[in-house]
Amino acid sequence: MQSRESLLDAFPDPGGIPADARLDAPVRMDGVLVGGKVVPWEGPFQDVTSPVRIRSGGGALSPAVIGRFPLMTEEAALRSLDAAVKAWDRGRGEWPTMPVAQRIRCFEKFLDRMRAARAEVVRLLMWEIGKSRPDSEKEFDRTVIYVRDTLNALKDLDRASSRFTIEDGVIGQIRRAPLGVTLCMGPFNYPLNETYTTLVPAILMGNPVVFKPPRFGVLLHAPLLSAFGDCFPPGVVNLVSGVGRQVVGPLMASGKIDVFAFIGTSPAADAIRKQHPKPHRLRCVLGLEAKNPAVILPDADLELAVKECLLGTLSFNGQRCTAIKLVFVHESVAADFVERLSAAVSALKIGMPWNEGVSITPLPEPGKPALLAELVADAVAKGARVVNPGGGATAESFFSPAVVYPVSASMRLFREEQFGPVVPVVPFRNPEEAVAAIVASDYGQQVALFGKDPEQLARLVDPLVNQVSRVNLNSQCQRGPDTFPFTGRKDSAEGTLSVTDALRVFSIRALVAAKENDLNRGILTDILRERRSSFLSTDYIF
Ligand code: G3H
Repeated sequence: MQSRESLLDAFPDPGGIPADARLDAPVRMDGVLVGGKVVPWEGPFQDVTSPVRIRSGGGALSPAVIGRFPLMTEEAALRSLDAAVKAWDRGRGEWPTMPVAQRIRCFEKFLDRMRAARAEVVRLLMWEIGKSRPDSEKEFDRTVIYVRDTLNALKDLDRASSRFTIEDGVIGQIRRAPLGVTLCMGPFNYPLNETYTTLVPAILMGNPVVFKPPRFGVLLHAPLLSAFGDCFPPGVVNLVSGVGRQVVGPLMASGKIDVFAFIGTSPAADAIRKQHPKPHRLRCVLGLEAKNPAVILPDADLELAVKECLLGTLSFNGQRCTAIKLVFVHESVAADFVERLSAAVSALKIGMPWNEGVSITPLPEPGKPALLAELVADAVAKGARVVNPGGGATAESFFSPAVVYPVSASMRLFREEQFGPVVPVVPFRNPEEAVAAIVASDYGQQVALFGKDPEQLARLVDPLVNQVSRVNLNSQCQRGPDTFPFTGRKDSAEGTLSVTDALRVFSIRALVAAKENDLNRGILTDILRERRSSFLSTDYIF
């Protein structure tokens, strides 16, 4: 059973950190990536502290200071933006007009540099956001695969576009063209993966980018900054770091951002996008908050449901936008389910990200344990209880996972996204009660249904696919595989991401058309034969 004392005991003294997890020295990100170079930063810096506390000789705990990054000013952020604007050059820059095969070659070079940075990035993921070692490795490897798959998807897209169409006497060649300067902002829970899943397709389609790392998860970009400068033409990739309100608002207010790719919360997305002076010009692709429910039907395989709900609710401490954040369970199996779930949660290992077999790790957001405790207290005051012994204990950056039951509609946990290790369980008599709650919810990302009866599952699938974007059967909610569409309804998303969808999101179809006659046939034949154009081309990328 967890207690404040046992949580505190999980923090290490410096000697207790394995050599391969240790940071030999703080990571000093002393330069700014702008215009293709890492330029020394002369202004103020932000110290980065880890959610991991370190025990001193006397036993006192203090947050580990793991590095620093430039606290950029509005003027500096605008200089980065201007570098991207110059690289775009109203669509006439080197990058947006470069043949696809050459752009792909730049990325292949980058991918080699990226692979070489694996150990360093994984170590920083552990220290900056407290992600366990296997999950940090998975985040890195999944991102490398995503980049590779994106390159292959663009080759396919380009091959399909490397031909002319003749329709109703008109010859046409249709391709996808870039949109312009793109601002990419990823979230702290996947600071590498969910930054790169927009950054990479945006750049690859020919759009120069300014990217702003999340509040937690900045230093892990340091090992790759010079690679961006070395692999792409000047100004194609620029990084802005600092306080979001100070640097992001001015970027948007400049009116020079054409595409806004953001993964975070809807209030933050709204606050940023509305600063654009011509909002109709701004293309947005947004991955936002969610409150994905699981629905456990009376005939569900409870062992399987507990296993999937445990993963779904508590992987990376529940800090996933796709996490299951509310569990509806039929009253006939509720007691059994809650007991099994509670036992499974009690068996989870709490510790440091590098500890073998660890599941629950320190939380990076400083106010999070207190906020989670508030949500649990609200539920308890209204008649629920924490079922698992020691659940809800807090100490420093730890929050011991809590299974809260029975949760009802009057409680904050029923509707607020906890984004942390709290599992609210709601009993129901009729599945319609769960469906009604999903219909009424502000969110519409995914749902997980657990049951065996095909007839009953089908009856739920049909209404639910019009409420959410993915219905999972006897499986937790998740984004992957990354080739599947990742989107949501209502407050949960705008636009669709996947390996192939992202290439479309960051581009627009453009075509060259000509009435079919001898003059035009001759012109087109000459352009192709003499390779006079990147756009008008039948070259096939092998
Ligand atoms: O935070 C939201 C992520 O897109 C979740 O991805 O389901 O693969 O953990 P995941």
